[in-house]
Amino acid sequence: MRPPAYKAIVDEYAAAIRSGALPAGTRLPTHRALARERRVALATATRVYAELAAAGLVVGEQGRGTFVRVRSGYDGIEPSRALPVPRLADLSFNQPLAPGQGDLLRQALRTLATSGDAEALLRQHPPGGHRHDRAVVATYLLGRGIDTAPENVLLTSGAQQALDCVLRTLTRPGDVLAVDALSYPGVKLLARAHGLDLAPVPVTPAGPDLDALDRLCRARPVRAVYTIPTVHNPLGWVLDRRQRERLAAIAAAHGCTLIEDGTYAFLEPSPPPPLYALAPDHTCYVAGLSKNVAPGLRFGFAVLPNRLLQAATGSLRAAAWGSPGLVTALATGWLADGTVARLELHRREDAAARQDIARAALAGLDVTAHPSSYVVWLGLEPHQRPDHVAAALAAEGILVSTADAFATGPHTPHAVRLALATPPRHELGDVLRRLRKAIEEIPP
Ligand SMILES: Cc1ncc(COP(=O)(O)O)c(C=O)c1O
Repeated sequence: MRPPAYKAIVDEYAAAIRSGALPAGTRLPTHRALARERRVALATATRVYAELAAAGLVVGEQGRGTFVRVRSGYDGIEPSRALPVPRLADLSFNQPLAPGQGDLLRQALRTLATSGDAEALLRQHPPGGHRHDRAVVATYLLGRGIDTAPENVLLTSGAQQALDCVLRTLTRPGDVLAVDALSYPGVKLLARAHGLDLAPVPVTPAGPDLDALDRLCRARPVRAVYTIPTVHNPLGWVLDRRQRERLAAIAAAHGCTLIEDGTYAFLEPSPPPPLYALAPDHTCYVAGLSKNVAPGLRFGFAVLPNRLLQAATGSLRAAAWGSPGLVTALATGWLADGTVARLELHRREDAAARQDIARAALAGLDVTAHPSSYVVWLGLEPHQRPDHVAAALAAEGILVSTADAFATGPHTPHAVRLALATPPRHELGDVLRRLRKAIEEIPP
């Protein structure tokens, strides 16, 4: 169904305001001028501004007109991301959102408000969630090749909290956590918070060096191995079955637990079985709905073997209890009615189209990426220091992440990570061409 005409105008203005193209304080056309300009009825123009005002993006001032509002605090973008440049392209963080997702949320909130037992959402729920909600996630996980009981699933505030819960359960300060030499930055933050000793495992574009991991486990008492086997962040690899079996064998041989992060796994259309399926007694699985649904939802889950359940539930209770009831109701509603599956399909197609754009714009450069992921790892020339490159790009209004954010050991490669999901797709090619030009202009 096509959205009504006013929606397209609302979305266009909202995107321009959020990106900074229309900075705070900009006076917008009068209702009458907008109606004329867009060839819509005056009532439609009024509705556009009413909706933008309801979203907190504009404010009407009696007798003066409608202005882009000054937004304060964390308003979708962190203050550090709100650079004072006319057009900001954020390639530093993936915020994939499909068109019309705001409407999906409105609809879901209306359904929640008018059906079922709303009061139940205000009552305390068990840490890790009610069994019926955990069962919805367990059913969803069957589609990922994970066959588990609802009791083994704990619902959390995003994958990050799931990872926190697993690390609290498995480790004590001083324990050794093996992790890819380039990995998701959030694991570094948690390792620091929990006093863990990070042991980097060398990586290649095809996966971690498993011989090196085996040697590490022989040499040191590795408690757990954090790994992203399917659509790695930042390198995009998908480990084949043989590599997965080897990982499972290493964990079994050395008595360590695998922590499998499946946050981006939905982007691979036909992955080999997850580690959890190969070694359910030695694996904890964490993932969430940040990348396939929305990062602001903060919904995630951990799947744990029986022996760890009681301790994990206790650690969740000690920390932040898990996913709030209202968020759980939204998330499980979308999991059960097929919305998540539809969004995942959309994301796979969107990510593949964005990778095509990136391949064309960056042809000939040192690019490592999965064909349907939202991430590009861009190797730089020796004279192009990542921090200089990031600064030169920031001056151009393009934000990227430098390799040091992902490096878990002393060696930081000359590279930047490009997150492709956030800029509007029709602008991505232009942004990447500007990025390429700015990098190539850095003098040797
Ligand atoms: C590999 C990986 N794991 C976990 C997370 C955290 O996800 P969440 O927002 O669900 O906490 C991210 C977020 O970028 C990620 O890239």
